Amino acid sequence: MAIYNLGSINADYFYHVPHLPGPGETLAATSMSRGLGGKGANMSVAAARAGAHTAHIGAVGGDGKWAIDRMTEFGVDTRHITTLTDTPMGQALIYVDDAGENSIVLLNGANFQIPKQTIASALSEASPGDTLLMQNETLSQLETAKMARSLDLYIAYAAAPFDAAAVTAALPYLDFLILNEVEAAQLEEATGKTPEALGVTDVIITLGANGARWIHSGTARDFPAMPVTPVDTTGAGDTFTGYILAARDRGLPMEQCIALAMRAGALMVTRQGTADVIPDLKDVDEARF
Ligand code: ADP
Ligand code: NA
Repeated sequence: MAIYNLGSINADYFYHVPHLPGPGETLAATSMSRGLGGKGANMSVAAARAGAHTAHIGAVGGDGKWAIDRMTEFGVDTRHITTLTDTPMGQALIYVDDAGENSIVLLNGANFQIPKQTIASALSEASPGDTLLMQNETLSQLETAKMARSLDLYIAYAAAPFDAAAVTAALPYLDFLILNEVEAAQLEEATGKTPEALGVTDVIITLGANGARWIHSGTARDFPAMPVTPVDTTGAGDTFTGYILAARDRGLPMEQCIALAMRAGALMVTRQGTADVIPDLKDVDEARF
């Protein structure tokens, strides 16, 4: 079995600054670092580290070879990542001040120009029962869901960052919907329906330190989180999503998928960083909470 993830790939540039710059201000950064990011890349890395064959479907610019190389090193199948030479790759410019406050500028770049041919050719390799995963940092989710439905794939959508139009259009095609608490509230407001009434067989709402809620065929069940002291909560949701789908892909019952994903999410919040520090299955199995 395999997971095909249509998703973003970003260069996350972190600039440490004494304070966040105001209008017209020029400010020297005290340090800078670059990491692999984007919800799509994070989820692909998480699913690969959880042991699933994970093919990422996406695009970078001519500046993105390092990102493809890093994803390959992390175990992701990168054959369906296209390099568009006339476009910059997706970027997040993240200013972090001494108080830990941040401000972020995003550039969609190549993430919004993934060629339809790249998507079609990736899915033409998929077998019935393989998973298609999507988020909202790319375009073409609806067409891709329709294509995946005709191929009998299992269709999972992590509705982040929240986009009411994109999610509601895709709803009829979904087998699995994953949201955090804020996104779940936004979806309820946009549709006027509770998660129980969406008609999606499995809905997961992640609740941070409060764990996760699983709604199966309209019935909700809560699972408590692992107790940890958080250091950096970025990437917890992406790690959870990659892990839960990887566990499902290898045939585990949903209760066990949730338990494993919560262990991975909890371990992730104890680590500083994003894609580069997503734990592997061995770390997650060995972690003591
Ligand atoms: P997102 O990053 O998308 O907002 P959440 O913060 O809900 O996602 O985190 C996803 C999952 O990671 C949670 O369901 C939980 O299992 C785990 N997790 C997140 N924060 C914590 C925490 N402080 N303690 C323990 N587990 C956590
Ligand atoms: Na997060």
